[in-house]
Amino acid sequence: MAVQKTYIMIKPDGVKNKHIGEIVNRFERAGLAVERMELGMVTPEQAAANYAEHEGKPFYNGLIEYITSGPVVKMIISGDGAVAKCRSLMGATNPADAAPGTIRGDFGLVMDENVIHGSDSPESAEREMGIFFA
Ligand code: PPS
Repeated sequence: MAVQKTYIMIKPDGVKNKHIGEIVNRFERAGLAVERMELGMVTPEQAAANYAEHEGKPFYNGLIEYITSGPVVKMIISGDGAVAKCRSLMGATNPADAAPGTIRGDFGLVMDENVIHGSDSPESAEREMGIFFA
């Protein structure tokens, strides 16, 4: 499997509910490595760029408001098949559908506060790393 880099972000609810350590631990236990990590706010410009594909959808405004509402942890994670591996560790987008043992299944509350974001393809990863680690 090819070594990849992917963009991962622990969302405001994940930080507020003190899940940072456990989440990073899960990635490391899966054989992945943290290349960059930064605690900070998402600017409105970064939020708009990251979620551009969702502009116009009913949840868009709430999503932008939410992701800029408090500190997040921005990370670049690397390893064999890192994009798919991280998505699998994260679980389904809606915590109600996420399997127990996944990050969203264990720590997620509701659809619009679902603990973590991860790039969905190597191309998205490149784009998102550029947005958050310019
Ligand atoms: S979709 O339904 O195909 O547009 O969903 P997806 O591409 O998986 O990602 C949607 C992102 O928006 C966040 N979000 C919501 N999605 C759907 N419905 C509602 N109500 C909603 N509220 C927020 C969702 O968590 C995805 O964010 P990321 O950060 O990509 O996980």
